[in-house]
Amino acid sequence: MKKLFSFLFVAALLIPSMGAVAQQKYGAKPLEFESLKEWKKVHRPAIMDFFLTDVYGHYPQKQVTPRFELLEQSDKALGGKAIRKQVAIHLDGMPTPILLLIYQPAGVKGKVPAFVGMNFKGNHQINIDPEIIISANAPTGKDLGTDAPRGAASSRWPLEEIVGAGYAVATIYRGDVDPDHDDGFKNGIHPLFYRAGQTKPDAEEWGTIGAWAWGLSRVMDYLEQDKSIDHKRVAVIGHSRLGKTALWAGATDERFAIAISNDSGCGGAALSARKVGETVAKINKSFPHWFCDNYNKYNDNEEALLVDQQGLIALIAPRPVYVASATEDTWADPEGEFLSALYASPVYELYGKKGLAVSSMPKPEQPSIEGYVGYHIRTGKHDITLYDWQQYIKFANQHFGR
Ligand code: GCU
Repeated sequence: MKKLFSFLFVAALLIPSMGAVAQQKYGAKPLEFESLKEWKKVHRPAIMDFFLTDVYGHYPQKQVTPRFELLEQSDKALGGKAIRKQVAIHLDGMPTPILLLIYQPAGVKGKVPAFVGMNFKGNHQINIDPEIIISANAPTGKDLGTDAPRGAASSRWPLEEIVGAGYAVATIYRGDVDPDHDDGFKNGIHPLFYRAGQTKPDAEEWGTIGAWAWGLSRVMDYLEQDKSIDHKRVAVIGHSRLGKTALWAGATDERFAIAISNDSGCGGAALSARKVGETVAKINKSFPHWFCDNYNKYNDNEEALLVDQQGLIALIAPRPVYVASATEDTWADPEGEFLSALYASPVYELYGKKGLAVSSMPKPEQPSIEGYVGYHIRTGKHDITLYDWQQYIKFANQHFGR
């Protein structure tokens, strides 16, 4: 009898912990659950914890409150069609501010919705506008950081089209938040959050993508207090590494009403387990600063991932999400991006929303935008183009009731 009791006692101790060890893996499959309650109570928290602990890293506990300073404003931007605002986002301890550049439709009564995204090489590259302030952190060199490249990235930021559709565009330069190289996390925002004696983030703490996403949330802080912007209708958008960032910002900050990933690939929308194009091992080797150190556990070991990148998209539910690919962008694995969108869709259905409206990959230039999960593949290379933006505007119009 005594033996039986001690056996039962040991078994009772073991069973729950065995359960924890053999934690259910969601894999690279559709995320299908019994109920919304189960998703919210069990699976969403587990998936969020996985992305926080093992992929992008936890945000620090410490709060750093931004201070906003309007540096410049004009009602005559874009030939009189837009209001331009430039705002310094000051963070205590940062030597230089994050420069926020906003264009919004002129002559509009009431608040306007907005697209928020980071740019690659400095605000002054998004348009030829000579008034755009060049960030102290923008790349320098013969033709960078000077007047020469003004507007060099303007094809990626079709302002006339976006502002013409009634939207504001708010952008910051990634390097104002954290430089995009492996500097041991010495120069960006990470040091502002270190504990006494800490010199770099711990293995489960944020890398550069996490820091960039945090920066996008500070833009949202600003927009919330700008009375001319409808902060309830803000879409966060990004291309490529900044598309990975936009998805993570959308997953972690519910104030973003829509998240848009343009050609985000590995560590963004694409499923890792397919190992097509860039892989976890390759991305961690080339960009060791993007993710948290724990992500290295999955180098050539994708089977061990608790959930694939469809989990990231599902974290955004029930808010609308858009995933886009380009035919020649094989490095980003267009099919893997599509499948992620598809596999996240059942979670949207739990909320009573249509997920992706198609079940197989559409042909180029046949966007699927009826559901809460949008997708298109565009002919051409890795880039964000006017065509891509036109689909995002339609998608946003539909969800913002415009
Ligand atoms: C590289 C990288 C990708 C990334 C891309 C970009 O190609 O391997 O992961 O998305 O740069 O940001 O343009």
